[in-house]
Amino acid sequence: MERDIKTLLAQMTLEEKTSLCCGEGFWNTTALPRHDIPAMILTDGPHGVRKQSGVADHLGVNERGKTTCFPTAAGLAASWNRELLYKVGAAIGEECQAEDVQIVLGPGANIKRSPLCGRNFEYFSEDPYLSAQLAAKHIQGMQSQGVGASLKHFAVNNQETKRFNIDVILDERTLREIYLASFEGAVVDAQPWTVMCAYNKINGEFCSQNRKLLTEILREEWGFEGFVVSDWFAVSERDKGLAAGLDLEMPTSAGIGKEAIISAVKSGGLSEEALDISVERILKVVFRAAEGRKTGATYDKSAHHALAREADRESMALLKNEGGILPLAKNGKIILLGPFAKAPRFQGVGSSRINATQVDIPYDEIAKVAGNAELKYAEGCSLNNDTANTALLDGAKEAAASADVCVIFAGLPDQDDSEGKDRASLRLPENQNVLIEEIVKVQKNIVVVLMNGSAVEMPWAGRVKGILEAYLGGQAMAGAVADILFGECNPSGKLAETFPQTLNDTPCFINFPGGSEKVEYREGVFVGYRYYDKTGVQPLFPFGHGLSYTTFEYSDIRLDKTEMTDTEELRASVMVKNTGKRAGKETIQLYVRDPAASVIRPIKELKGFEKVDLAPGEEKRVEFTLGKRAFAFYDTDINGWRVESGDFEILIGKSSAEIVLSAVVHVTSTTTVKKNYTLDSTIADIKDEPAAAQVVQMLSGSLGAGQELGLDLDALFSSIKIRSLAAMSQSKDGGKGAITLEQLHGLIAAMNS
Ligand code: BGC
Repeated sequence: MERDIKTLLAQMTLEEKTSLCCGEGFWNTTALPRHDIPAMILTDGPHGVRKQSGVADHLGVNERGKTTCFPTAAGLAASWNRELLYKVGAAIGEECQAEDVQIVLGPGANIKRSPLCGRNFEYFSEDPYLSAQLAAKHIQGMQSQGVGASLKHFAVNNQETKRFNIDVILDERTLREIYLASFEGAVVDAQPWTVMCAYNKINGEFCSQNRKLLTEILREEWGFEGFVVSDWFAVSERDKGLAAGLDLEMPTSAGIGKEAIISAVKSGGLSEEALDISVERILKVVFRAAEGRKTGATYDKSAHHALAREADRESMALLKNEGGILPLAKNGKIILLGPFAKAPRFQGVGSSRINATQVDIPYDEIAKVAGNAELKYAEGCSLNNDTANTALLDGAKEAAASADVCVIFAGLPDQDDSEGKDRASLRLPENQNVLIEEIVKVQKNIVVVLMNGSAVEMPWAGRVKGILEAYLGGQAMAGAVADILFGECNPSGKLAETFPQTLNDTPCFINFPGGSEKVEYREGVFVGYRYYDKTGVQPLFPFGHGLSYTTFEYSDIRLDKTEMTDTEELRASVMVKNTGKRAGKETIQLYVRDPAASVIRPIKELKGFEKVDLAPGEEKRVEFTLGKRAFAFYDTDINGWRVESGDFEILIGKSSAEIVLSAVVHVTSTTTVKKNYTLDSTIADIKDEPAAAQVVQMLSGSLGAGQELGLDLDALFSSIKIRSLAAMSQSKDGGKGAITLEQLHGLIAAMNS
């Protein structure tokens, strides 16, 4: 039954209204039985439901009920599979119903600015389009079950170092094109019930009391209809936060937040109307959640475990497969090395930590699918420290020497994929690198399986034949790894982030994690592949890279038009054929390039992707639709998105580094940019203006004296200010035919009109 919120508001006291805007406990909103308003439970997220049963804490330390641990976002993103994200989201939603949880705190749409960020495993990508597309589907899946998502951490929360108060200094274009775009697409496409504001400041203002962010952009520009919740303990001044658009404070602040609101309303510092607006937003979600509640709901734990395995099969990227070492034959002697073969890493540390319903072990799962292969295991190195242990190494080498193939399980320790802490380096623990290098000396058939939440350096990459990036793949990861190693399924993941050769190569190497109070995003929009493309720095593995056991051929790119305006849509398509002997899935990536722009733009940007499933020999036409945003940049002069007229290249790639087809479309801009010529504009600025043609023509030969100096007169002339034309024209022929300052003012007025 629809509740009349306005009438309800009129019946509530100031104290009651305020209490709805401040959490009651660690995970609950306030219930008001007098008005028949229930409490809601909000719980982490993002890759499973973490409902605590004992003493509450938000770092995953204390007891929580068992639920399914799905692959983490870093892995799910490598699937590039929207439907899969939806399915996993829906399964999490179902588990919420069974656990009586109304809001999942996730997904996270923060951009992976540096591979060092401790929470990268909870985020999707370095690319805002990919991140937003996947986040939207994840949210839609969750919300299809009658529970809400909380898209987090809004915004520009890209490091854990000083996460509670770091002031992120960045320019508006970078903010809009990279960091906000990742949230924008998800908000617009999926309308999450809630958005969680981040801890940090942006350009001097905490996100939790940032009106531009929480009201002007999120609501007025993007049309967000839900409520904004604080990250846990992110509130600084509750009344200011409320005025800025922060509706709900979580968790309880033991009365501090309430008091701040009440006294601000009483003193006139905060309008009661602002409070009413927040209460209304919260109540809408509370009633929606109450309506969606499925009392007594259950779910099939083994079906969800199977889904976690299915999802993880697509959430790994096969990075190298020299000589087709994979899939492995189901016979001969196979040695599994490394402690992760018996104790896998499958999730990160912190608030997202799930108490999994079951955890599969790689050794056991491999044994189930390895057929007649003779399996052995040796530890090779310890997880307790980073130092190579000679006895463990010798044992591993001896076993490896007599095997046909050696699979080494490596990865990061728990503390390197962790909330609250960034990594100090991109290296694996040294004893793992030593193990791999030592095995290289005795065995040439080596496959490395990596379990980590973000990119790592691989100094040994050229000396092993196979590399499978398995990420932190959730509780069923072991089975999925086994499936891929033995060809039970064909790998189809592609990297959603660049893997650099070394940390020094990363775009924000110099400016991460910043100083004691501020971090400056000086790389601007050149995050991830945008940086590697522009600088030519070669990554270890590029964004979008991932191999398959079959081969795909792309052909016949088509555009439905060669000329368009920026209000029209472009339809692009390409034929993709499975030219190998196995069925397989392939992600086709579409990038747009603006070869001539008035601002500095990336070489290309991802604007479309589609994943197709093809039987051997099968061929499909894959279609993309591109709207204005695919061509636009954020123009700070007009505070909006603008396309500049000109040719744009539509690039089709297997990865960001492997573009196989391209076509050109001419786009005409419909935005009129107000001209703002002044006496200080240059000849280059005005040279294409018809009104200026005569003047430019008249004076173009006026720099005669420069000739003897060997100067490039055209370049020199172009950089001259209009103002100088008056003086130059007078000195040229003694004032005859000279241009006066008044005439220049007239010219400027004519050009600006
Ligand atoms: C994290 C959030 C999380 C919240 C509740 C915070 O510390 O940043 O991601 O949802 O705690 O656990």
